[in-house]
Amino acid sequence: MNYNFDEIIPREGTDAYKLDLREMVFGTDDVLPLWVADMDFKAPPAVVKALEDRASHHIYGYTIRDNKFTSAIVNWLKNRHLWDIEDGWIEFSPGVLPSIMVALHEFSNPGDKVIIQTPVYPPFYSIVTENQRELLRNTLIEEAGYYTIDFDLLEAQASDPRTKIFVFSNPHNPVGRAWNKEELKRIADICIKHDVMIVSDEIHSDLCLFGHSHLPMAKLFPEINDRIITCMAPSKTFNIAGLSSAYAIIADSKLRKRFHKRLWAMQLHMGNLFGGVALRVAYNDGEDWLEALKKYLEENALMVQDFIAKNMPEVGFVLPEATYLLWLDFRKWGLSPAKLRKALIEVGKVGMNDGVSFGTEGAGFQRLNIGSPKSVIGEGLKRILKVRNEVYKQSQY
Ligand SMILES: Cc1ncc(COP(=O)(O)O)c(C=O)c1O
Repeated sequence: MNYNFDEIIPREGTDAYKLDLREMVFGTDDVLPLWVADMDFKAPPAVVKALEDRASHHIYGYTIRDNKFTSAIVNWLKNRHLWDIEDGWIEFSPGVLPSIMVALHEFSNPGDKVIIQTPVYPPFYSIVTENQRELLRNTLIEEAGYYTIDFDLLEAQASDPRTKIFVFSNPHNPVGRAWNKEELKRIADICIKHDVMIVSDEIHSDLCLFGHSHLPMAKLFPEINDRIITCMAPSKTFNIAGLSSAYAIIADSKLRKRFHKRLWAMQLHMGNLFGGVALRVAYNDGEDWLEALKKYLEENALMVQDFIAKNMPEVGFVLPEATYLLWLDFRKWGLSPAKLRKALIEVGKVGMNDGVSFGTEGAGFQRLNIGSPKSVIGEGLKRILKVRNEVYKQSQY
């Protein structure tokens, strides 16, 4: 089937975070929105149809998620990630961040230390600190735009007896790495050795690009099953983040019971009716759409690469192994992070995620969301080039 990812669908006035929060985030609503991580594409036709059908019933009461829901997940993971799990290992959650929060509360205490790998998705900071845990930054090592893990630092941080949890982003937002087997093995070994629990956020797992594949940590190393919670969702994959439907996979029954009890204690178990429908249909009927989407995203990433190479080769960029989020390095422009941001907003009128919001390591970077029609990405690139020509080249800003 053909899907039209080139279609421009106006989103203004639809309560879309990406559009309607521009004034608050950028101080103006006239920037081209290439920031927050959702896409400007329609969800797969089967999902749209199922939601319309369900909406036409007109009764929207409390909902259950039975084995139709869990078997859609089981089959999806088996087909897409060659991971055999059991229905009973699945715990529903209204989001990946809520899953992480439940795990933090159940498996650590206030004052305990939690490791994250920076620069990273900003809520990883606040979810730790605002829940009164202490943050340990396992800063990633960057070399010519490619990121790897500082294992010596990780080991030192994990060996602190107060370190209880490692919140892991795989594939990583924003650096785009789909971590390989050797890296995962070293993490598993360190966490086993120092008795650290792993909360593995694999929300971007379906979006591996350019021949890379996702390796679920819990699948590779069953020996860590008593210390790993895998958090997944169809939200990024099928552009249904607004439907709040995610899940955690926990093979170990003791761990799972504790997670389950805490989820209920926090009253997070109920979830919304449409989210359940969308997850089930997306996983059962969305594979073809996802393949087409990934192809389109790869074309967009290559288009950015080509444009940068031709027009602004000083901007650092490495094709992502996964995600529709590109991590662009503007450090050679020599602007302070504040000036870079101001110039992009005021001169370029382009709204990307500011690198520093991912941590101090992000100074001089911007995160570009390529989950939009090609014409929109092309326009975004032109606007960035305008900033380059008017601000960086003339150094007058
Ligand atoms: C790494 C990562 N985790 C979690 C989330 C958010 O998940 P949810 O909306 O299900 O809480 C995002 C969204 O961008 C993300 O990139």
